[in-house]
Amino acid sequence: MRILSGVQPSGRLHLGNYLGAMKQHIALQEEHECFYFIANYHAMTTVQDADLLRSHIRDVAIDYLAFGLDPQKALLFRQSDVPEVTELAWILSTVTGKGLLDRATSYKDRVARGISPSMGLYSYPLLMAADILIYRSDLVPVGKDQVQHIEMTQDMAGHFNNTHGRDVLKRPEPKLNDAMIVPGVDGQKMSKSYGNTINLFDPPKTTRKRIMSIKTDSTPLEAPKDPDSCSVFALYRLIATPEEVEALEERYRAGGMGYGDAKKLLAEAAERLLGPPRERRAKLEGDPDYVEDVLSTSGKKARAVAREVMADVRDASGIVISKDRDS
Ligand code: TRP
Repeated sequence: MRILSGVQPSGRLHLGNYLGAMKQHIALQEEHECFYFIANYHAMTTVQDADLLRSHIRDVAIDYLAFGLDPQKALLFRQSDVPEVTELAWILSTVTGKGLLDRATSYKDRVARGISPSMGLYSYPLLMAADILIYRSDLVPVGKDQVQHIEMTQDMAGHFNNTHGRDVLKRPEPKLNDAMIVPGVDGQKMSKSYGNTINLFDPPKTTRKRIMSIKTDSTPLEAPKDPDSCSVFALYRLIATPEEVEALEERYRAGGMGYGDAKKLLAEAAERLLGPPRERRAKLEGDPDYVEDVLSTSGKKARAVAREVMADVRDASGIVISKDRDS
C-alpha cells in the first residue's frame, strides 16, 4: 500500500498536532510504503516571508525526525523537490470544472479567517490532487477537514482518465486520522489560534508550568471527581499507559485527591513522551547537513516515481517535451 500525506509547515508543532496526525504518520512507516512531504508550495498561500518559510520547512523536518520518522523506512521530502507536481496541477486544471473548486469549503473558511483570496489559495485543491495522484497513492491519511479535498482528487483523477481515454491516474482513498479530541489548557480544542497549546519542544519547566495551569473545576479535594469531564484526565488518557490511566481513574472516583496531583502525573507522562525527542531534536539542529541529506535523498526517490507517472500523463494528453529536458 502506498501512503502519502503532506504536512503544512506552519511553525512549531503542539501536542494536538502530534496526537492528531504526526504520531499516526510515523506509525504507518512500519507497515507501508510512506511518502511524506512538506508542502512548501501550499504554504506560500499563507506564508509570504522567505526566511520564515525556509525555517518552517526545516522545523517540520526536524520535528518529524525527532519523533521517530525513520528515513530508511519512509520518505520525507520537500514538495518543491518534485517540480512535476506543479505541471500536473496545471494539467488537472484543464479537466476540472470551475464549479468543483467553487464548492471547496476550506477555501471559504480560510477567506473568512482573513487570508487573502489569491488564485493560489483558490487552486489549492488542484495542487493537492497533483501531490496525491503523481505518486499513484493508495491511501491519504488526513484530518476530517481535508476529506473534501481527497474527494475532489478522486473526481479529478476520473476526469483526466475519461477525457484522455486511459486509466492513467489512480483513485486514492482517504484514511481518516483517529478523531481524538485533544483539549488545550483552557479545555477548548488544542489549537494554535486559541493560544492554549502544549508545545512539543518547550523546555521541560515551561511544559510543566503549562500543565499545572490547565483549567479544572472547583470540586473540593475530598470529593470524588469525574474523570470524563476533566481536561487533565483527557490528556493523561492520550499519553499514559492503560494501567496508569486506570489507576488515576480510580483515584478520581475515590475522592481525596486534588487536581494538582493529577497534573503532576500528567507532567511526568508528558516528559516521558517529549524528553527523548527533545534531545534528538537538539542533536538534529546541530547537524543541518544530515537533515538536508534526508530531504534531498527522499526527494530524489519521490521524483523518480513522479517522473514515470508524468511520462504517462504527458503521453495520454499529448504534451511533448524534449528527450533531454530533465537531464
Ligand atoms: N492540505 C493539507 C493540510 O492542510 C496539506 C497537504 C497538501 C496534503 N498536499 C497534500 C495532505 C496531499 C495530504 C495529501 O493539512
